[in-house]
Amino acid sequence: MTKAELIEGINRLRKEKNAVILAHYYQTGDIQDIADVVGDSLALAQWAANTDADMMVVCGVNFMGETAKILSPDKKVLIPDLEAGCSLADSCDATAFERFVKEHPDHTVISYVNTTAAVKALTDVVVTSTNARKIVDQFPCDAKLIFGPDRNLGAYINSVTGRNMLLWNGACHVHEQFSLEKLVNLKKQYPDAKVLAHPECKATVLTVADVVGSTQALLNYSRDNEAQTFIVATESGILHEMMKSSPNKQFIPVPPEDSTCACNECNFMRLNTLEKLYNCLLNETPEVFVDETIREAAVKPILRMLEMSK
Ligand code: 13P
Ligand code: SF4
Repeated sequence: MTKAELIEGINRLRKEKNAVILAHYYQTGDIQDIADVVGDSLALAQWAANTDADMMVVCGVNFMGETAKILSPDKKVLIPDLEAGCSLADSCDATAFERFVKEHPDHTVISYVNTTAAVKALTDVVVTSTNARKIVDQFPCDAKLIFGPDRNLGAYINSVTGRNMLLWNGACHVHEQFSLEKLVNLKKQYPDAKVLAHPECKATVLTVADVVGSTQALLNYSRDNEAQTFIVATESGILHEMMKSSPNKQFIPVPPEDSTCACNECNFMRLNTLEKLYNCLLNETPEVFVDETIREAAVKPILRMLEMSK
């Protein structure tokens, strides 16, 4: 099928089936352009909790599909490619995490949304990169907190909130590999540029950033700030929306350490294609399922997050 036929087919099927298409900012431009909503992890979860569509296609990675299913168990939740995992979620095995939690029984467990449903089920409150600081700030200063699985986001939140949360030792393979050296060279080359970085990046990268924030926060800053050039240290899919919002500004993605790869693109996110999206709507598969016992435990910390981030 041609791209035009795929687009026509997707538009027809979503109408016939009362389906909505949710896309993360790290999806390819053609998927972002056809989606009903494009957003960061928090926005997608908020949408999933409130939509009255019968069916949702979550164009992102597995944990995003699971979060949607946990929040809307009566809806059919589809994901174009079930292989779209997440190295950060994979860095936190539920059995090992449970052991860690049990070793610290007097701690409140805060988990980043980039986790499996089984890890969320062991959690007191879920956070995203948009609301992590706001939610941690709502706990007393001396509260004993565990934060998993991202050590970089956890360390960053510790530094800005003055906490000393116990951190799980996980990371994202995309954000960990941004080259500080190449970033510093770009800063020299573009002295007026603002550096935007996602908090999953290493502390060395965050210290040279002008703004640290979620994909949505970085996008908002690039739109609202008067600077004309931005050096961007996060998955390069975000550039699509940045360029759409500010067509006259310049956006430069920070290259990875290894310049022979395109590893500032998340290989999991990029598994989704227009063709898979079309087939997914047509065949209503792959569908996301979450074990009901796990779902009942996992929904509580997600709802708590939605409440605490109001
Ligand atoms: P956001 O919370 O900014 O959407 O980030 C999600 C993610 O997967 C970052 O790698
Ligand atoms: Fe997971 Fe990293 Fe990909 Fe985000 S960019 S989905 S954290 S692997």
